[in-house]
Amino acid sequence: IQSDFSNLSKWAANYVAAKINAAKPTADKPFVLGLPTGSSPLGMYKSLIELNKKGIVSFENIITFNMDEYVGLAQNHPQSYYTFMWDNFFNYVNIKKENVNILNGNVADLDEECAAYEAKMKAVGGVDLFLGGIGPDGHIAFNEPGSSLSSRTRVKTLTKDTIIANSRFFDNDINKVPKTSVTVGVGTILDAKEVLIMVNGHNKARALAQAVEGCINQMWTITALQLHEKAIIVCDEAATEEL
Ligand code: GLP
Repeated sequence: IQSDFSNLSKWAANYVAAKINAAKPTADKPFVLGLPTGSSPLGMYKSLIELNKKGIVSFENIITFNMDEYVGLAQNHPQSYYTFMWDNFFNYVNIKKENVNILNGNVADLDEECAAYEAKMKAVGGVDLFLGGIGPDGHIAFNEPGSSLSSRTRVKTLTKDTIIANSRFFDNDINKVPKTSVTVGVGTILDAKEVLIMVNGHNKARALAQAVEGCINQMWTITALQLHEKAIIVCDEAATEEL
């Protein structure tokens, strides 16, 4: 538990940098990071950019896999997760473009896209550290309430709650929010060697309480992390209100 968002973000960035440095990644033995979008990881990305600039951490031998993407939103749309990642992180660090993996929600065969994504993750040895945030309803990536806890990367319909929550990025117009997504599954996340989740603010307090103290169930998909042997939640004081 950190006092506020700024300290939470710094804590997460320092943790990621330390993990990468301890692994001493090389071109032959890269470190594989799972990455989220949303407001929760924004501060961490800023801190990681600073650490990269100061030479404290390098992304040269890092392979990344993003959690999710909207279906049918052009890659260059300002709200696509592709744009988010390049605008908020990749453009400012020494990562190689060919090492960045983001699901493409615009291909004709989405099932094939999802299967290829899983295969690629496996081919590089699996995800070493999956970073994430959660929705107010406790969803992780786009694994909405009701998702199977052993789900893999697939197409997922967004719930009304998520469409409303994310409409803040689409001129507060729910009609502009895509209705489907492609997302890694809960099972995909559980396969990572380690998972680090960032949770901040009052509106996540209920989800955090469920994550830590609730029963493992598919209505709060974050609860599946209770089954993981190395899952960390870093949160701010405001998010702990219902613990
Ligand atoms: C979206 C993303 C999730 C993210 C959630 C919370 O639904 N698919 O990966 O965790 O939003 O976003 P925020 O961090 O902005 O609250």
